[in-house]
Amino acid sequence: MIKELYTAENHEFKERAREVAEKAMRPVAAKYDVEQTYPWEVQKAIKEAGLSGVWIPKEYGGSGGGVLNLCLVIEEFSKACGGMGVAYAVNALGTFPIILGGTEEQKLRWLPDVASGDKLVAFGLSEKDAGSDAASMTTTAVKDGDEYVLNGEKKWNTGGAVASLNTIFAVTQPGRGARGISGIVVEKDRPGYRVGKHEDKMGIRCVPVVEIHLEDCRVPVENLLGNNEGGGFKHAMKTLDLARPGVAAQAIGLAQGAFDLAVEYTTKRQQFGQSISAFQGIQWMMADMQTQIEAARQLVHTTARAADAGAKNIGKLSAMCKLMATDTAMKVTTECVQLFGGYGYIKDYPIEKYMRDAKITQIYEGTNQIQRLVIARHILREAASRAS
Ligand code: CAA
Repeated sequence: MIKELYTAENHEFKERAREVAEKAMRPVAAKYDVEQTYPWEVQKAIKEAGLSGVWIPKEYGGSGGGVLNLCLVIEEFSKACGGMGVAYAVNALGTFPIILGGTEEQKLRWLPDVASGDKLVAFGLSEKDAGSDAASMTTTAVKDGDEYVLNGEKKWNTGGAVASLNTIFAVTQPGRGARGISGIVVEKDRPGYRVGKHEDKMGIRCVPVVEIHLEDCRVPVENLLGNNEGGGFKHAMKTLDLARPGVAAQAIGLAQGAFDLAVEYTTKRQQFGQSISAFQGIQWMMADMQTQIEAARQLVHTTARAADAGAKNIGKLSAMCKLMATDTAMKVTTECVQLFGGYGYIKDYPIEKYMRDAKITQIYEGTNQIQRLVIARHILREAASRAS
């Protein structure tokens, strides 16, 4: 990262996050990976460092740091532990629909508790049979007097088991496709809201990924985001445009974190009478990896800056940075395991966890195939508008 390109505020957030990562995350990353339990002590450290609401506007209790500072913090956390990086980032994913589509009253009602770290949020879009094709969801929300009654199941709900609030997307107007979907915030203590199966995962094991069952779950009509039926799908898509740079930052953190460990290892590991970093073959691998990480990082930061500058349509950039950073993370972490040789393949060393954690970044918040679809649609739309 080129120091001079960043503001004093950027450095301050990054430094605070680095301290939390090194003191509170790295020492316990392996333990929570084995136990597959939520690291509440880490959540407490984030809260005490005042980093719980970096992206939330100041008027709702946050730091007003926007997407770039959010990405800087996620990268630092993910250098130490990819699971802890996403456990944090998912709160941005869950609050963006409120920030983008909530009324003033709704923002004041939910955001300050998240910004202070008192409440965690999750994001309920996907279902068993509605993953990439998010608009095909079947969860319904039917208005009954001054309440909505929700029925259905949400899948891949990251952080859902520990979240106090869940931003759920449901069909309020059947037959209207994407235009019939609404966003509704559901508090965990609402009757009919139940956390189901906990997934046993390859990576990001410290953050619970669960099913959420909604069984005649009643919420007041005031929980409908924007007090407006049918705008939910667009809010979900705009949310993903803002949140995908966060996944990309997680990926950059994983790649840089693994790379730093691998460089250190190769300078210590002796073979044929010298450290293996003295071999040109290893040096060229290092040069390629760091070049790819920096290129991906700059695309992530450009996207974040565009979002913070209020650029109207960041969908293409957002998909591009997610695609590039997460493919880079998978490639780099795999090569870092290679640099550790046999030791890279066993759990005595921290490196294999980076590779396991990296894999999901190519899948969640839209598979990289969906990112390519989004990018291609933008390219063709731009070409069509140039032609007309
Ligand atoms: N911003 C604003 N509006 C948008 C938009 C955007 N980025 N993208 C689409 N829309 C609008 C369209 O303009 C359209 O509006 P109109 O009806 O007014 O014309 C409407 O939304 C429907 O758009 P499409 O016809 O393009 O929708 P589609 O059904 O073809 O789907 C898709 C588009 C890009 C494939 C979308 O479904 C998608 O992003 N899928 C992936 C979903 C995803 O990322 N899921 C991950 C969830 S989070 C997770 O992984 C778990 C976790 O907890 C971390």
